[in-house]
Amino acid sequence: MDKNELVAEAIKARENAFTPYSHFKVGAALLTKDGKIYHGSNMESASYGLTLCAERNCIFGAYARGVRKDDIVAFAVVGDTDGPVSPCGACRQIIAEYLNRDVPIYLANLKGDISEYKIEELIPYFFDGSEL
Ligand code: THU
Repeated sequence: MDKNELVAEAIKARENAFTPYSHFKVGAALLTKDGKIYHGSNMESASYGLTLCAERNCIFGAYARGVRKDDIVAFAVVGDTDGPVSPCGACRQIIAEYLNRDVPIYLANLKGDISEYKIEELIPYFFDGSEL
């Protein structure tokens, strides 16, 4: 599966976002080495702080179904943004902890722009728990 196909899966996931407050829909798709795709989208609450971003929903959902770090080969996120969507800091932290460092992260928008990053570019010197 190439990056365009994974972004297309994130676009599908985005359609299920529940965003009655911000109306800002985000979708994410995670690809595993056996070719399975796990989807996630943002879920909002009237108690705004309870909102869950698409990226974390996607990663936690995959882990909840038994996926682990070494299974994951690519991750894509999409929003209706001018340039490729930018994950929030909390999601960058979770991506850094739950995905291996060499996994390509595709950030995209609905216009076909796709940027590829490695997590260390998105959150250098992140808290990795090694001091706990
Ligand atoms: N959002 C995400 O889903 N991912 C991000 O990385 C940034 C923000 C969502 C949360 C909320 O539902 C809406 O976008 C506006 O903040």
